[in-house]
Amino acid sequence: MDPELETGPEPHEADARSGGTGRKVTFGVASSLDNFIARPDHAVDWLMWSDEVSALTSAFWKTVDTVVMGRKTYEVGVKQGMTAYPGVKNYVFSRSMAEAPDARVEIVRRDAAGFIRELKAREGAGICVMGGGELARSLFEAELVDEVGLNIHPVLLGAGIPLFHGMSRQIDLELIDSKVLQTGCVYVLYRVKRRGSSTE
Ligand SMILES: NC(=O)c1ccc[n+]([C@@H]2O[C@H](COP(=O)([O-])OP(=O)(O)OC[C@H]3O[C@@H](n4cnc5c(N)ncnc54)[C@H](OP(=O)(O)O)[C@@H]3O)[C@@H](O)[C@H]2O)c1
Repeated sequence: MDPELETGPEPHEADARSGGTGRKVTFGVASSLDNFIARPDHAVDWLMWSDEVSALTSAFWKTVDTVVMGRKTYEVGVKQGMTAYPGVKNYVFSRSMAEAPDARVEIVRRDAAGFIRELKAREGAGICVMGGGELARSLFEAELVDEVGLNIHPVLLGAGIPLFHGMSRQIDLELIDSKVLQTGCVYVLYRVKRRGSSTE
């Protein structure tokens, strides 16, 4: 058995960056206004890249040492030649994928929520949930997402792969940042409010 499955993730060498526990889990994606993150065939040709997005992304990138993603997101990345994100620990959640085509990527066959709960309890920098919506839903349900960052594009795709799926309860958010980009995209960053906290 993969020792990772029994013991959970090993602390990452960049853990020292955070200086504490309670690592922030951020779900960050680009979406259409009508709640899609890709066309039905996974195409993301509608995404608008810009210097502003690049600046936001590189600032965020400095705060994380771990990237997690669902198998479908990873497979699309691999087809595009992105087999691992450099300089961070890469985890892909999948029960169907035998092994990753890149030794820097660890396939996790356990339930994502339990694994990320353990990862969060260890010291380290931020954890980026790269997608997709399926993985994110399970992490929202398990109350493991701390922030949601969206780059909302001015398009109604009409059909595609959903960003948000139905969930068993309401999740309240607090807007902590927003910016209208020159492309007409709107960047929003929300903090996820926890249930049962009198201060929230
Ligand atoms: N626009 C953007 O910024 C953006 C960002 C990311 C992704 N995307 C797009 O989103 C699409 C994929 O998103 P998606 O929502 O369909 O799929 P996804 O979340 O990327 O992957 C779903 C798969 O991940 C595994 N998984 C999900 N939740 C799990 C859990 N709780 N525990 C263990 N394994 C779990 C399962 O793999 P197995 O079936 O192998 O068990 C599941 O089939 C792609 O087209 C991608 O390009 C777009």
